Amino acid sequence: MENINKIRNFCIIAHIDHGKSTLADRLLEKTQTIKITEGQMLDDMDLERERGITIKSHAIQMEYKANDGQTYILNLIDTPGHVDFSYEVSRSIAACEGALLVVDATQGVQAQTISNLYMAIEHDLEIIPVINKIDMPSAMPEEVEDEIVDLIGCKREEILRASGKTGEGVEDVLEAVVNRVPHPEGDNKAPLQALIFDSVFNSFRGIIAYFKIENGTIRKGDKVKFFNTGMEYDADEIGVLKMDMIARNELGTGEVGYIISGIKNATEVKVGDTITHVARPCEKAIAGFQEVKPMVFAGVYPIDPSDYENLRASLEKLQLNDASLTFMPESSVALGFGFRCGFLGLLHMEIIQERLDREFNMDVITTVPNVSYMVYDKQGGEKEVHNPSGLPDPTMIDHIEEPYIRATIITSCDYIGPIMKLCLDKRGELIKQEYVSGNRVELHFMLPLGEIVIDFYDKLKSISKGYASFDYHIDSFRPSDLVKLDILLNGEPVDALSTLTHRENAVAFGRRMCEKLKDLIPRQQFDIAIQAAIGAKIVARETIKQVRKDVTAKCYGGDVSRKRKLLEKQKKGKKRMKQIGNVEVPQKAFLAVLKLD
Ligand code: GTP
Repeated sequence: MENINKIRNFCIIAHIDHGKSTLADRLLEKTQTIKITEGQMLDDMDLERERGITIKSHAIQMEYKANDGQTYILNLIDTPGHVDFSYEVSRSIAACEGALLVVDATQGVQAQTISNLYMAIEHDLEIIPVINKIDMPSAMPEEVEDEIVDLIGCKREEILRASGKTGEGVEDVLEAVVNRVPHPEGDNKAPLQALIFDSVFNSFRGIIAYFKIENGTIRKGDKVKFFNTGMEYDADEIGVLKMDMIARNELGTGEVGYIISGIKNATEVKVGDTITHVARPCEKAIAGFQEVKPMVFAGVYPIDPSDYENLRASLEKLQLNDASLTFMPESSVALGFGFRCGFLGLLHMEIIQERLDREFNMDVITTVPNVSYMVYDKQGGEKEVHNPSGLPDPTMIDHIEEPYIRATIITSCDYIGPIMKLCLDKRGELIKQEYVSGNRVELHFMLPLGEIVIDFYDKLKSISKGYASFDYHIDSFRPSDLVKLDILLNGEPVDALSTLTHRENAVAFGRRMCEKLKDLIPRQQFDIAIQAAIGAKIVARETIKQVRKDVTAKCYGGDVSRKRKLLEKQKKGKKRMKQIGNVEVPQKAFLAVLKLD
């Protein structure tokens, strides 16, 4: 068991690309935890690397001989950087006593950094500000220093400067962790109370849960209980995380470690849950536990109906290591049998889509994402609806509520106008506008989440030329005047194209949907009428004129092989099409709503 006075648990708070992984690698290198040859160590899924986002947090232990001659145990707990995973970030933060606030010297403070920073401050973490990338010619360390002083009210001398690239200042960072981050506190003799801050799936060993012991001691072989799920397990193996898992017989208060107990399904391990002993349980769970609830939903349908069972098996496998993914069977008149999947947010949805494609080779059609709605009927009943087509008869509905978010946008003053317009167009309400420093402004909005899942990020990025950072938290459900807009192809309603939209925008929205679908659905051998309807009332219409498409017409003569190639090509192009009535509809069309200008 380690001496609690020599333990330092800390995390790194940084905006994406501000150099968190690079700096972490330097810390590992300096403490000789790893010898870096190439690449970066903390991210291990290849998808993660491509996206440059740490999807799942990890933890790693270093031993550092400080200038005072003593050796310290430093546990670096990695935090995912994206808003979709904000609850996981909050649990990682709760396991630490200190945080490095890493800010890119060329970029300054960004929205995500601020919201994670506030979380850290709420948990009373000691904040060590570090200005990173000071080797870059465009670095503006003085300006960034001003921002940091404004933000956390620290003294200039407390702000470190470093470069993950050259290694400059890295030792100062380690010394600051030892000297400024307080050691954990707790009672080694009290009943066991350990916070699960993360879990990973290992195909050989099952689910591995990462925890930090707040009180008490755990030994290999102990009978343990997860407080919130009530499940009991044997601690088959416990240990600490270095470059590999190092098994230990005993871990004490303040230590960070892992437990393997034969769990096969990620849904059994809930981030934020408390591990205690069966024989001598703690009285209370560690505060702040929260079930993560998916907020964004979309239908996922196999292109080939016979792939339905394969799709189910793939989703089940994905769920083994991603407890926040939910799915249930649903059927659509247009698309047949599929699943309604729930995601934490848009990025999470993209990740799952990509994994289905890459790891399981599944060809799927995904419908437009929507949020979850609370529907209140006239009898006083309430129902959560995850799909516009599951809405009860409008005459039965008293009112509908939709989730609202509190959004923070940090940008340069030059873009306030267009950003304000975008957010107001999206039914947003400005709550606060604050000048951070120099030319930068922080805007706070209340916005319906449903408007964010549809083409918000892209628009924000393009109108701000990339100089706007965005972060959000779910705030509350609020009543909204929503109506269901249906799309009909040749008179047939296509349920997968229905959306819920605000009454005031519904007609204009229907018109744009019809125009967009006209562009996206290829001409066929008959006219196709595209109509938008609210209830029985048609509000917009477009027609796709017929064409007789003969791809081989261009080939004169009898070049058979060329002809065959063209036909094959056409066949391939058809792969992501779905036959609806007599109309062939490409995948793009189901996402038309995301591309409205
Ligand atoms: P995510 O994993 O996407 O959150 O990013 P991160 O914050 O971990 O950033 P990462 O360490 O991947 O660095 C982002 C980019 O900045 C990479 O191209 C790095 O090579 C570069 N970089 C990181 N630190 C420094 C530095 O101190 N100086 C310079 N010049 N470049 C750096």
